[in-house]
Amino acid sequence: MKNICVIGLGYVGMTLAVSLANKGFRVYGIEINPLILESLKDSKAHFFEPKLNDMIDNNIKLGRFSYHSHYDEVYSCDYFIITIGTPLDNHKKVNLSMILKVTDELSRVINKNSTIILRSTVKIGTTRKIFNQLSASLEFKPKIAFCPERTIEGDAMNEILSLPQIIGGIDEDSSDSAHDLFSKLTTTTVIMSTPEAAEMVKLTDNVTRDIRFAIANEIALSCDQLKLSAHEIIRAAGRDYPRTKLPLPGPVGGPCLEKDTYIYNQSFNDYTPKIAVDARSLNESLIDHALVFITKKIGTSFGKVTILGMAFKGEPPTNDIRGSMSLKLIEKIKGINSLCAIHVYDSLATEKEIKFTHSFLNVHKSIPDATFESNVVFIMNQNYEFQNLDLNKLFLNMAEKGIVYDFWGQLIGSSSYNSNYFAFGSHDIHNS
Ligand SMILES: NC(=O)c1ccc[n+]([C@@H]2O[C@H](COP(=O)([O-])OP(=O)(O)OC[C@H]3O[C@@H](n4cnc5c(N)ncnc54)[C@H](O)[C@@H]3O)[C@@H](O)[C@H]2O)c1
Repeated sequence: MKNICVIGLGYVGMTLAVSLANKGFRVYGIEINPLILESLKDSKAHFFEPKLNDMIDNNIKLGRFSYHSHYDEVYSCDYFIITIGTPLDNHKKVNLSMILKVTDELSRVINKNSTIILRSTVKIGTTRKIFNQLSASLEFKPKIAFCPERTIEGDAMNEILSLPQIIGGIDEDSSDSAHDLFSKLTTTTVIMSTPEAAEMVKLTDNVTRDIRFAIANEIALSCDQLKLSAHEIIRAAGRDYPRTKLPLPGPVGGPCLEKDTYIYNQSFNDYTPKIAVDARSLNESLIDHALVFITKKIGTSFGKVTILGMAFKGEPPTNDIRGSMSLKLIEKIKGINSLCAIHVYDSLATEKEIKFTHSFLNVHKSIPDATFESNVVFIMNQNYEFQNLDLNKLFLNMAEKGIVYDFWGQLIGSSSYNSNYFAFGSHDIHNS
């Protein structure tokens, strides 16, 4: 069995490393964050993902997965898989410096039989850039392929075994070598003509997803203006009619959607994409839309606001709050009312993780505690806990004349009618 080195044990690296170990490969994980290495000492990932911790524990015990802070013990690996983050800087430009630093480190440990797999989401041309950087310092031509991660957080350990794996090698040898590896993990591999084509597939996936949400959100914004219900309309339009299948409207973000549109946008010299960035900014504008609506109803001097759901999505559940629209909402609320106390509840994100974003947040372990005497309650994601909330109980617990703003319209049609319940996209419909 081959030896594999996975560089970066974040969300993507950890799930892949452990899945490969589970298939019998000997996997070495390299990670520089001491907190992640500390958590692995207890056979635990630093994030929530169903099945993952059991698989980490099992594969460590079987000697198929180990974690390290340096390359000393992994020099003879057949594959080096880069899963480093590709964040945006303050100007929304992708920062590839961490990837290029790893490239430099790899030039000292790879040999002519090794294959490098780039798995992070990158702008078009990055795989070739890494190839050129390595070729300039090596005496042999390195094998390299771009093989994107496309799993969904919350179901990654299943999807990694079932989704087709896109492969874009710099040459045929590189694609063949990447295929040899991934065909042990999943049943379908799709070999692309170039690394650039594979890079474009990943960006196409996420930009398309963002644009689909943006269309649903645009319809919701229009419906609020027209006093119609977007939920009624989107459901009817898609009913037994395959050409108008839209998601329901709501605030979408997360570690991929919040940045991949910008990465896509920076991939061109002589072309400016027409709709991707507009779609992203429309998706981000929902927070302002909701706050304008609420402040028209109750002014800006509310004393207590509650946010239900800090994770960037609720279905499937995750504890990941990176790029969550709840963070944007918190910043905007503080912008209009700096004295307002903000209370939050999330079933999976820990107090430490939440307070790391804003130390002023009041974190609660139950919905009644978080919503007690609140003036405004925002429901921010579709976690199953919020889908069946008892509105009567919620309003009784809140301050008099409190407002519930349900961004996903989950409680439209709930048996307990209240005229202070509002759903995004159905502002004037209430929940009767
Ligand atoms: N999170 C997702 O669901 C997802 C899905 C598809 C693609 N992606 C893409 O995959 C990439 C990684 O995403 P992520 O969410 O795992 O990011 P992450 O930031 O959680 O993980 C990256 C890890 O790399 C480590 N690291 C940084 N420099 C290092 C070095 N020199 N040596 C060893 N380790 C180093 C960091 O400490 C971190 O733990 C990004 O490009 C992202 O856009 C993410």
